[in-house]
Amino acid sequence: MTDIYDEILALKERENATILAHYYQDGEIQELADVTGDSLKLARAATRVDTGTIVFCGVHFMAETAKMLNPDKRVLLPDLQAGCSLADSCPAPALARLQAKLRDEGRRFQTVTYINSSAAVKALSDWIVTSGNAESIIRRVPEDVEILFAPDRHLGSYLQGVTGRPMILWDGSCMVHEVFSVVDLIRLKRRLPDALTLAHPECPANIREQSDFVGGTEGMLRFVGSKAEPADFLVATEANMLWQLEHAVPRHRYHPVPGITCACNKCPHMARNTLEKLRDCLKTGGPEIPWQPEFDRATEVLKRSLLD
Ligand code: 13P
Ligand code: SF4
Repeated sequence: MTDIYDEILALKERENATILAHYYQDGEIQELADVTGDSLKLARAATRVDTGTIVFCGVHFMAETAKMLNPDKRVLLPDLQAGCSLADSCPAPALARLQAKLRDEGRRFQTVTYINSSAAVKALSDWIVTSGNAESIIRRVPEDVEILFAPDRHLGSYLQGVTGRPMILWDGSCMVHEVFSVVDLIRLKRRLPDALTLAHPECPANIREQSDFVGGTEGMLRFVGSKAEPADFLVATEANMLWQLEHAVPRHRYHPVPGITCACNKCPHMARNTLEKLRDCLKTGGPEIPWQPEFDRATEVLKRSLLD
């Protein structure tokens, strides 16, 4: 293990690269990264990188976002196949058809899109949100227009609740957050009656309703950090988040909420990035995220939403 760590650090130096890693990456990758974060923190961190190369340890839409915010940098993704079920659930032509239908019906609306989407979908949007800034962006949408929210129906329904704005919801979901077992969560709560439950807003309502805190991964870190006394936390999000929680706030005990079919929930797309692929992409300079025509319009929307 030490060998590959040393090899990656030497290659990072040779290639003048910065490694950004999402909290859903394996602990060994998070440990090596220059910056770890949620989608919002990483997108903003990408704009402050002073090296010529960014290696994005996360999924495709995240690396694409980093490229759009930094057109002059070389952005590498260790595995180009690291996709996202949520992004895949909303193809751009299908979203464009729904928008055309709503316009034909004479409805006035703005499209608010979760960052977990392709650049082509972002290019069709008025706003891009992350779990970290969604509420404040939605409050920027004028009251006299409707909101079309894509692609996560669970995050959308959560946001309808907290902002009081009704929304037209796209029917997408995250394959990881959708499968937490409420039965097992209730069983865990009985076993640990003093434990606090944290749920990502990509979870369905039945899980969110059982939770003491609903928020994105950065919000979870802030919440556990605000509790001074050691406590038990039941965590309903991707299981690698536990590494970050244990690392950042080690005084607490963290327990993964099990999925319906497995003891913990790991994202198979995030898991495509391995130490070996991280080393190889630094060694060979690929796979690289190339500039695409739809990036021009998507970048405008991204900058307005995430950087202003
Ligand atoms: P955040 O870390 O921004 O909350 O995102 C969660 C997620 O599902 C990323 O794929
Ligand atoms: Fe996509 Fe869900 Fe994996 Fe995040 S955890 S990358 S939303 S499939």
